[in-house]
Amino acid sequence: MRSAGDWTYIMRLFGKQRRAAKILLFLIDCVVGAAYAGFVVSFPALVVHLIQQPILPGLSTVLVILAIALVGYGLNILDTHLQDGLTQFTFDFRFDYIPVFSGLIFNWRQADIDSVQGKAVIDQAYEAIYNGGNDGIGAVVDNTLQAVRTSIQVIIVALVLGYFNPWLILIVAAINLVEYALQRIANAWFAKHKQEENQIASYQSYFTRMLMKRSSGKDIRLFNLFPLLHQHFTVLADGIVAWQQRYTRVTTLVGGLQVAVNALGILGTLLFLIQSQTVSIENIIVFITAMQVLNARFTTIRQALSEVGRNLSYAANFRAFLGYAQPLEPTPNLPAIDQIQSVRLQDVSFAVGSATLLHHVSLALAAGQSLAIVGENGAGKTTLIKLICGLYPPTAGTITINGQPRTAWSTASLRDRIAVEFQDDILLHFTIAENIALVVPEKIDYDRVDRMLQEVGMLDFVQHLSHGVRTMIGNELDPDGISLSGGQKEELLFARVLYKDADLNILDEPTAALDPLAEKQFYALASAKLKDKMVIFISHRLGSLTVQSQIMVMKDGRIIGLGSHAELLASCAYYRQLWEAQKTLYAAGDQNEEN
Ligand SMILES: Nc1ncnc2c1ncn2[C@@H]1O[C@H](COP(=O)(O)OP(=O)(O)OP(=O)(O)O)[C@@H](O)[C@H]1O
Ligand SMILES: [Mg+2]
Repeated sequence: MRSAGDWTYIMRLFGKQRRAAKILLFLIDCVVGAAYAGFVVSFPALVVHLIQQPILPGLSTVLVILAIALVGYGLNILDTHLQDGLTQFTFDFRFDYIPVFSGLIFNWRQADIDSVQGKAVIDQAYEAIYNGGNDGIGAVVDNTLQAVRTSIQVIIVALVLGYFNPWLILIVAAINLVEYALQRIANAWFAKHKQEENQIASYQSYFTRMLMKRSSGKDIRLFNLFPLLHQHFTVLADGIVAWQQRYTRVTTLVGGLQVAVNALGILGTLLFLIQSQTVSIENIIVFITAMQVLNARFTTIRQALSEVGRNLSYAANFRAFLGYAQPLEPTPNLPAIDQIQSVRLQDVSFAVGSATLLHHVSLALAAGQSLAIVGENGAGKTTLIKLICGLYPPTAGTITINGQPRTAWSTASLRDRIAVEFQDDILLHFTIAENIALVVPEKIDYDRVDRMLQEVGMLDFVQHLSHGVRTMIGNELDPDGISLSGGQKEELLFARVLYKDADLNILDEPTAALDPLAEKQFYALASAKLKDKMVIFISHRLGSLTVQSQIMVMKDGRIIGLGSHAELLASCAYYRQLWEAQKTLYAAGDQNEEN
């Protein structure tokens, strides 16, 4: 059975660390819990017995009873402490997976992260780990321990009960078995329909994330997005409510039937007790106490088992997550690359589903060379560089680095030698220096950070901030964190690229937010600083690229021109069209000036 496999899997994971300590603590807890259960059942009868047939004179009997009660009380306190210790173990178990969670996602393939299914798997694994103690993998362990611990107590109480009248054990067991069978109907419904709820919850989490992002705030206000968001959200909320209603109907029905079975059972047992006229007062007290204790314990077991069943749906998601993505590097111990000297794409195509985004692209780049890529929106420029960076593998054709297939080099070493500035790159809400160096603070070379800030023209600005390069960006983690303009952000992102001192530098629209003077300085600086490296520039502002010796023109995922500015003006009609369009804009400005 699949869920049995999930259960074994989770319990094995739980037992992976400090197994002996966990088993020992649990065994002691079982013994103490069982002793306490035995005490609860026999204590009232013992009191009656001692009062009716005292073995010691008056006051001593009371002291003996008090002493026994104290022992029972002590057992109860000890039991609670032991259970706390076990809860701490399951808490640690869940938290152990938080770094594992992000660590695994870090190694996922980009395509898996982009995919709808990948996103759902991540959301559901997140639920399994982060939900808190009542749901998820922690709850599977907690409730399993609870069920075992209580079962042992039931056996002890049943033994005490059986000592007086064995038939009663059978009656109580039968009642609870029927109730458990009913509970399984509700559990089966939950397991069968959880997927539907997962799906809606996953869509809903998009809304929550989007609404919680501060950057969404301005758009939501200025465009008055409330009606639109509300309508989408209502549809999803209705879906969740409808699902919950269906589930509640099932649990209400099952709960009602369980109450009926229990009431009839107790009534029947009472009749049975009245019929057996041989029982003494102690026996009746033991019967009634044991009935209550057993009913409570069986309810605990039923609930724990039902919680195990319900939470195994999370366990399945968690397991799916752990096994979902293929490792980024199927072959371990690939050689590390020291320096990237050449990159070559041969007849590379790339498709996502049925859409082909790149068709037969070939290009070559060696150290000391630069390439400019131009083309309309959606031409495939960013997609192409994502392939070069290794975020996506090509669906056809080959990418070679230093003459070897890209996949022959260790991914980590390639990442070390490539620096990229994407159009949608982010600055973290950490210090300026951390954002540039992107390493832990102890490893930051602060002199180098200063030099890079100087290069991009930001040093003066940064030095005037209250904490210099240690000033925080954004106010998520520091109320005094600063806000940056769009252009300043781009300058810091470029300082990040320069700091990395990589062999292959890729700059996707690095100047979109820069003023004309800053843009001019940027290209002068980039050409000077990166002249011995490989550089790929992507820009819509053709004027800045005219000095580049190699310009590649892309359209609809294809290369339709390659050459210098002058060569392309002569040979590529589409390039000429782009160039003329931009020139006309500026010329129109000049004419307006003259008028
Ligand atoms: N992961 C993806 N799945 C499906 N389609 C994608 C994916 N990424 C990009 N596309 C599509 O591929 C095409 C090329 O996108 P790309 O981002 O490469 O364009 P671009 O040339 O960089 O455009 P821009 O100048 O606007 O930045 C677009 O039509 C886009 O919708
Ligand atoms: Mg792009």
